[in-house]
Amino acid sequence: MKYDFSARAHTLLSSQLPGYRLEAGRGAIISLAEELPAEELFPLSLLAETAASVISADANALQYGDPEGYGPLREWLLGDWLKEKHVIAGDGGLLLTTGSQQAIDLLTRVYIDPGDRVLVENPTSPGILQALRMQGAVIVPVRGDREGLQPDHLRSQIRLHRPKMLFCTPSFTNPNGILWSRRRRQEVLELCIEHHLLIVEDDSYGDLHFQRYGEPVAQRYPSLHALENVAEGGHVLYIGSFSKTVAPALRTGWAAGSRELVGMMTAAKQLADRQSSSLNQRLLHHLLSVSAFDLREHIQLLNREYKTRLKLMVELLKRPAWKNCGYDLPEGGMFIWVTLPEGLDANALLRASTAKGVSFLPGPLCSVTGGGGYIRLNFSHPGRDELLLGMNLISEAMTEFTARS
Ligand SMILES: Cc1ncc(COP(=O)(O)O)c(C=O)c1O
Repeated sequence: MKYDFSARAHTLLSSQLPGYRLEAGRGAIISLAEELPAEELFPLSLLAETAASVISADANALQYGDPEGYGPLREWLLGDWLKEKHVIAGDGGLLLTTGSQQAIDLLTRVYIDPGDRVLVENPTSPGILQALRMQGAVIVPVRGDREGLQPDHLRSQIRLHRPKMLFCTPSFTNPNGILWSRRRRQEVLELCIEHHLLIVEDDSYGDLHFQRYGEPVAQRYPSLHALENVAEGGHVLYIGSFSKTVAPALRTGWAAGSRELVGMMTAAKQLADRQSSSLNQRLLHHLLSVSAFDLREHIQLLNREYKTRLKLMVELLKRPAWKNCGYDLPEGGMFIWVTLPEGLDANALLRASTAKGVSFLPGPLCSVTGGGGYIRLNFSHPGRDELLLGMNLISEAMTEFTARS
C-alpha cells in the first residue's frame, strides 16, 4: 500500500541517519561521525557481576516499576550526584528517562505547539533540532562565540521572535565543544528570567571536562539551574545522562526541575513507554552504590583517555592538508568542530571521504543556517590506529579537492 504519513513524520526525512552511519555500524568504514564513548572503557566485569546479583536477588527486578523511575536511583541522584552540582529538585521534581534524548522529546511534546518559536545555539546537536522539528517548532538560531551565547544577539532574537523556550548545552556544546564562561551563564539566565523564557539546559557532556574535575569545576562553571537556585517554579529544566559516563545502552537519563513541569513530562512518558527500563536503573543503582565502582574515578579515567585522543587528533590537524582549516581547542566533550577552507563543502568532502572508508558528521546536520563550511570530528570513540588512519584518509580527500580547485 501507499503509506500516508503525517506531515510531521516527513520532518524525519531531513535528518534520517545517513547511509555511512549504517556502514560504520557494520564495521565497513572508520567513523569519526558518532557520539559514542570508548567501549574499551566500559566497566564490563563490574556490570556483569552486578547484573548477576541484581537479577538473582529479587524477581521484582523484572517487574513493571514507577513511571518516575526506580526510587533508590532517584535518591542516589538527588542525595549525591545532583547535590554536588547544586542542582535542587524537590519532591516530584526528578524524572528518570530513556536517555537524555527522551527528556528532550517529552519536554518538547508537552511544551511546544506547532508554530511556537524556540531559540537554539547555532550550531547545535542534530537530536535537539529533530525533536523540535517533529513538534512543528519554528527554530530560531542564536549566535555564540568562545564564551557562549552572545547576550546582545540573544536579546535581539527574543525581541524579534517572542520565543517560548531556549535549548542550550553550556558545558561542551555538541558539536563545537564550547564551554560557556560563568559571566555568560549569568547573563543568559538573567535575560531569560526577564523575558519569562523556559531554559532547557542539556548537561549530557558536562562531566567530560579534561582540565579539572570536581568542586572547582562546579564553582567556575555552575549550571544555569544551580545559578538560578530555585526548586519550584524556576526557569531551568536541567537534563543529564549516564550515557557518556557509564554506558549508553543502559539508556538512563534524567530531567530535574519544577514539579509542575516534570509532572507533565511524567504524564507524557506514560503514553510513550510507561516507564524506562527499571532493570537498567536497578543495575545502575547497584553499580553506583553497592559494587566497587566509583563514578568519579571512572570519569577521571575517561577524561585522561579522551584528553590523550584529543591531543593526537590535534597533532594530526597540524599536518599540511589541514593548513587552511580552523578550530577552537575544546576543554572537554567528544568533538572538534572544524572550519573548512573557503569553497570546500562538507557534504562533498564527506562523499569523497566515505569512498575512501572514513566518515564524519557534516555541519549541515547541526546547523539552522547552512553549516556547509564545517565538519564535526569525534575523538572519543576511535582508538589510536583508527584515528590515525581515519584522519589520513580525510586528509587525502581534502588534498584532492584542493588540487582540483
Ligand atoms: C547534546 C546531546 N544531548 C542528548 C543526547 C542524547 O543522549 P542519551 O539519550 O544517550 O542520553 C546526545 C547524544 O549524544 C547529545 O549529543
